[in-house]
Amino acid sequence: MGVRVRALALLLLAACAATTVLAQSAPEPLPTGDETSGASLFTGKGACQTCHRVQGKGSRLGPDLTDVGSTRTPAQLEKSLLDPAAEILPENRFYRVVTRDGASITGKLLNLDTFQVMMLDPKEQLRAFQKSDLREHGFVDGSKMPSYATTLSRQELADVIAYLATLKGVVAQ
Ligand code: HEC
Repeated sequence: MGVRVRALALLLLAACAATTVLAQSAPEPLPTGDETSGASLFTGKGACQTCHRVQGKGSRLGPDLTDVGSTRTPAQLEKSLLDPAAEILPENRFYRVVTRDGASITGKLLNLDTFQVMMLDPKEQLRAFQKSDLREHGFVDGSKMPSYATTLSRQELADVIAYLATLKGVVAQ
């Protein structure tokens, strides 16, 4: 093998490595989404309703998504699904209490005053605690929403985003 050929082979190798790096830093744009399949992923495989409410259906634990299609761009929606902890509005942070007997409950904070903590637990039950009965209480760091980067395929992500983009407020049914 001549020096020239070897140099060429090295050059090719370097080019391959460079494209791999590029491919990693700039992920492919999502394929075109299908909103009907997105709607079934929302209630089915994605189990989004265990935390989110749309048009009065689903849980109140996470933010209501009834008009998320008008408040968020598809790029922001994609970010919410892939990296939920990147941006959390203060009112969406979860609250956690630990009672004296060691039980820990995490949920949505509804009210906090000098004596009491009121929250919605994951079963959507209203729970009130006397602060004096609690071992600890405070906001939870990070997001309670799982990232869907690996649990949904690129096509499924696109479908869910296409569905979310159609949610533009309460419509008569
Ligand atoms: C375990 C509860 C939980 C599950 C399951 C969940 N989410 Fe969330 N989601 C949250 C919480 C809490 C927030 C508020 C901010 C945060 O924590 O990122 C949120 C935020 C969002 C936002 C951003 C809302 C905004 O206005 O910025 C979108 C969009 C969203 N979720 C969509 C989904 C979709 C779609 C699914 C299902 C594929 C899903 N979520 C599953 C809890 C959940």
